[in-house]
Amino acid sequence: MTRERAQAGGVPRQGVSRRALLGGGIAAGLGVVAGAGIGAGGVLGYQRVSAAQADETIDLRQSHPFYATGTRMPQPGVRTSPQRYCVFMAFDLASGALTRDLQVLLARWSAAIAQLQAGKTVGAVVPVSGVGAGQDTGEALDLGPASLTVTVGLGPGVFDDRFGLAGRKPAKLAELPTLPSDRLDPALVGGDLSLQACADDPQVAYHAIRDLARIARGTATVRWTVLGFGRASAGPDQTTPRNLFGFKDGTRNIESDADFQKWVWAGADQDWMAGGTYQIVRKIQMNIEIWDADDIADQQKIFGRTKIAGAPLSGGQEHTTPDFAVKDAAGRTKIDMRSHIALAAHENNDGVKILRRPYNYTDGLNQYGQLDAGLLFLVYANDPDHFVRLQRRLGASDLLNEYVAHVGSAVFAVPPAPAEGSYIGQPLFA
Ligand code: HEM
Repeated sequence: MTRERAQAGGVPRQGVSRRALLGGGIAAGLGVVAGAGIGAGGVLGYQRVSAAQADETIDLRQSHPFYATGTRMPQPGVRTSPQRYCVFMAFDLASGALTRDLQVLLARWSAAIAQLQAGKTVGAVVPVSGVGAGQDTGEALDLGPASLTVTVGLGPGVFDDRFGLAGRKPAKLAELPTLPSDRLDPALVGGDLSLQACADDPQVAYHAIRDLARIARGTATVRWTVLGFGRASAGPDQTTPRNLFGFKDGTRNIESDADFQKWVWAGADQDWMAGGTYQIVRKIQMNIEIWDADDIADQQKIFGRTKIAGAPLSGGQEHTTPDFAVKDAAGRTKIDMRSHIALAAHENNDGVKILRRPYNYTDGLNQYGQLDAGLLFLVYANDPDHFVRLQRRLGASDLLNEYVAHVGSAVFAVPPAPAEGSYIGQPLFA
């Protein structure tokens, strides 16, 4: 669904609720300075700022359908234009959980996600009898769908000897190998199931995860989670946002139908996965304080792009194709071959492309009192080996390595969206 564009003159469209504009995070995201116009009568005024994202208007009434209306349709949250917030959660299936428990959980999750994406509750907030716990926790009442999408993944553990599904395991689904410069924290690795909830209101995303984790109780326990904000990638109708290093992120990403077919949507390696994809999740810590002290010329050399415009150092504008061969007067390539884009670009990797759908995150302060923040790096690919291939190169030689550490990691199969009356992964149990 396309977002509405802001009207000229900086007047928000009716679709933007007053609450959205009052909410600090979203107000900032909209490029709106609240307060400038608060008069004696308490009337809110807005002053448009000139940031690129200020031209994007969020409509919190927008919703994405959950059920597939055709065959081999992907789950929402992969190709969907990135919403502004994301909560990722990985789960372990409880010891003793049976195949039937897994089926019931996937069925209950599917029914609940359909409700949540429509902006509805998953059941009564206040039981009719007036006693007992509510089925829905209630904190998203009145907030609207906010473009929520929830994407469900199945980890390699689902196909071990516990559920009789070993024969249905896709050949491409395997734990990621150890990669150069991994600094993985065992508490942030793996999981049997994953949920990625993205929305334009952080409370809508968090509410979805909370209700779904509640539904899982007894069958699955939470393993690790990351709260993401400030999308660090762009859909075709969106401007390129910035990551916490201050650089535009998402300039060159998969966009065309042909590239989605070639690099994202899974084939019939296993029937039940056709039209699905694989999700690779990395929690990447960024040493922000050290980065902030670095010389701007060095920062630009590290990425191979200019900081403000995001243009490749070989010349041109943000969307000019980088030229990795062009040299300066001293005979050096203008884009350093150890720069992030030189190592990651498909031109230098036999054409390999991945879909990046990352978000910034912050966990407050680390044990040294420094900012603990980074990138919730969410990738979709029809072969996790494509990510592995790129990360082998980046982890070994990327100039960026001095400033980042991969601390969390997991891989999941993302089945296609179910038709109404069915549930995610149902054909797996047929
Ligand atoms: C904290 C870690 C990372 C940061 C801050 C970061 C940031 C960036 C930035 C600023 C760009 C240039 C703009 C763009 O084209 O989107 C970029 C490009 C790219 N990054 Fe990263 N990135 C990170 C990690 C990774 C990882 C782990 C991979 C894959 C293993 C990766 C793959 C790519 C690819 C494929 C491109 C496009 C290169 C091109 O075709 O020009 N990045 N990244």
